[in-house]
Amino acid sequence: MEKIIIPNTNFQCSKFIFGTGNLLNILSKKKRLKLLNSAVDKNFSHFDTSPYYGFGQAETNLREILKKNQNLTITTKVSLYPPGRSNQSLLEMIFRKSFGKFLPFLVKPNIDFTIKKANKSLEESLKRLGRDCIDILLIHEPIIELINTEEWKKWFGQLIKEGKIRYFGLSSLVASRLEKCIVKDNKLFNILQTLDSVDLMEADFLKKNNFPLQITHSYMASSKKRYPEKSYKDIFNQILKRNPDGAIIISTRSQKHLTEFSNLLKNL
Ligand SMILES: NC(=O)c1ccc[n+]([C@@H]2O[C@H](COP(=O)([O-])OP(=O)(O)OC[C@H]3O[C@@H](n4cnc5c(N)ncnc54)[C@H](OP(=O)(O)O)[C@@H]3O)[C@@H](O)[C@H]2O)c1
Repeated sequence: MEKIIIPNTNFQCSKFIFGTGNLLNILSKKKRLKLLNSAVDKNFSHFDTSPYYGFGQAETNLREILKKNQNLTITTKVSLYPPGRSNQSLLEMIFRKSFGKFLPFLVKPNIDFTIKKANKSLEESLKRLGRDCIDILLIHEPIIELINTEEWKKWFGQLIKEGKIRYFGLSSLVASRLEKCIVKDNKLFNILQTLDSVDLMEADFLKKNNFPLQITHSYMASSKKRYPEKSYKDIFNQILKRNPDGAIIISTRSQKHLTEFSNLLKNL
């Protein structure tokens, strides 16, 4: 798979990033690891995760892949944390996921924008991932009114000096949330990760504010929802036109879809 340099950075990674937001929807750990290994075999060199994904299990599972492949790079996040106690049993997590559809409080994230909590979470993520350094650390769904930007900038700067992170920034599903942040303080990030789609083009707020598309996601999810009749091949071509220079996160629970995806990449 082609490698790219994320615009406005020196950071190199695969054009497609493997997202682990839905990894725990695969109940068998063996199958989760098999999928992650296949992604590595298909030349995904960067993985997107968060302590919120799978109650921390996504990071724990990634550790096994990262251990074997030191050249892989990783994004993780702070500020959105899983509900309930840490180190929950698989049964408890499955209970929360299954009943969360009817009782949303079971899966609702804990939101905390304090540096104290972020620092603790980063240390835990480093341990779960088995790494000394996170390549990209993002504030997950930032709410600018609740963020002390001076404290956060200082913290990010300190982490870079200590070699605990390489890049920092913001990630959100909601364009207006990120737009408010970049208007208020454009030193709070050197990476922006945002949702985009081929029809609604949510990420255009970046162009309007003179920022390039760096990392975008959720194209397949929105197309499947709004245009279920469209073939994934057509969607794929449109995705590349939407974000030609940056990196694109995709996620799948299916070996078949991963193979289809990588076959399309071979023809690039
Ligand atoms: N705030 C944030 O930072 C944030 C927010 C949202 C997402 N993300 C990241 O972005 C990742 C992707 O997000 P997403 O799940 O919303 O978007 P996505 O990757 O665009 O969509 C995933 C959906 O597309 C389907 N799919 C994938 N490949 C397919 C294929 N070849 N044919 C048919 N269907 C296919 C998957 O189904 P199957 O599983 O059946 O293949 C799944 O339903 C997340 O895992 C996470 O890492 C970050």
